[in-house]
Amino acid sequence: MPSFFFAPSTPPASSTKLFAFIRVIRGSLSLPFMQDQLSALLDKAAAEFPALNARPEFETAKARYVGPHGELTALMKQMGALPKEQKPIAGKLINEAKGRLQVHLDAALARIAAAELAAQLGPAIDPTLPSIDAGPGTRHPLTLVREEMCRILRKVGFTIADGPEVETEYYCFDALNTPVHHPARDEKDTFYFPANARFGNVSKKVPTEKYLLRTHTSSVQIRTMLKGSPPIRIVSPGRVYRRDTTDATHSANFHQLECLYADKGVTVRDLKALLDYIFASLLGKDTKTRFRPHYFGYTEPSFEVDLTATHLPKVKKPWIEIGGCGMVDPTVFAEVGYDPEVWTGYAFGMGLERLAMLLYGIDDIRYFYQNDLRFLKQFA
Ligand code: DAH
Repeated sequence: MPSFFFAPSTPPASSTKLFAFIRVIRGSLSLPFMQDQLSALLDKAAAEFPALNARPEFETAKARYVGPHGELTALMKQMGALPKEQKPIAGKLINEAKGRLQVHLDAALARIAAAELAAQLGPAIDPTLPSIDAGPGTRHPLTLVREEMCRILRKVGFTIADGPEVETEYYCFDALNTPVHHPARDEKDTFYFPANARFGNVSKKVPTEKYLLRTHTSSVQIRTMLKGSPPIRIVSPGRVYRRDTTDATHSANFHQLECLYADKGVTVRDLKALLDYIFASLLGKDTKTRFRPHYFGYTEPSFEVDLTATHLPKVKKPWIEIGGCGMVDPTVFAEVGYDPEVWTGYAFGMGLERLAMLLYGIDDIRYFYQNDLRFLKQFA
């Protein structure tokens, strides 16, 4: 017999078919032969799979058994060559073998997955031990500026007032004498909530008005005046929202600081003196302010405030716009039930980011929100 006809007991996958063919020709393909093949294959799998430690090795090994050119696949294909009456028995044998092989595959995969997870989790920890000291955190530059401004204003009698970031049209616009068709109220500029949105903790003045994300902190003026009676002297820092596209100087959410003083006999001179005082305190005594006439519905007269602070790093422009201000409009006082014949007042609002950028020489507003420790640690 030529050596070619000596089939090894477990022929390599690629040649299994050929041997089967030869056996059929020689009439030697039989159930016992298939049984031998299957049990040899299972013995091999039982030895091989427990030794595998990584997913790629596992996949390669698995393919060698059940892939399109796998050994078990090849044995299944041989079934067709068996006499008809033996096929059901062979099918049963193969199914049993498949089931037993699957047990090896599942066990190996579970072991590998557990090892992968353990590697991801790192060394075991004892959760009963005290945690490692991460060291003290640092204050965010916006927090530093906010706290400093509040400290400066508290020194001259202002108290801190707060208001919700979700607001209603009444407090954000109507009560501030900002009519329905004012551009600031446009859907393009303001984030409105759907008409059916409900916020149990934000009171509405008018049941039909919509909720929105406040576009400025001026809404706190109204909430504060409605709650109390004059004289009032408040500062209200907080987050505000506008539908702006983000770039180096714009962000869809940023922070403002609002001040309101309502009393008898308040004048523009008082307003100018206070602004001079706070900017000189924050940015240095060489800082000066100037007013430019402007229009805001809630103040009359109204101004934009510029400041000059060329002694600060990165300040190149001689005058920098920093906020808006004016004398509280009589219609606003009337709206909150303060007699405009008796009460006078001033109000102003400004961006905290702009102040922090000036103070620290930051040239891109996006740094504030990126949580990059390399940036934040500079303010420690
Ligand atoms: N709310 C204005 C803004 O967001 C700033 C402002 C202007 C606030 C005049 C005021 C004010 O209190 O009186 O641009």
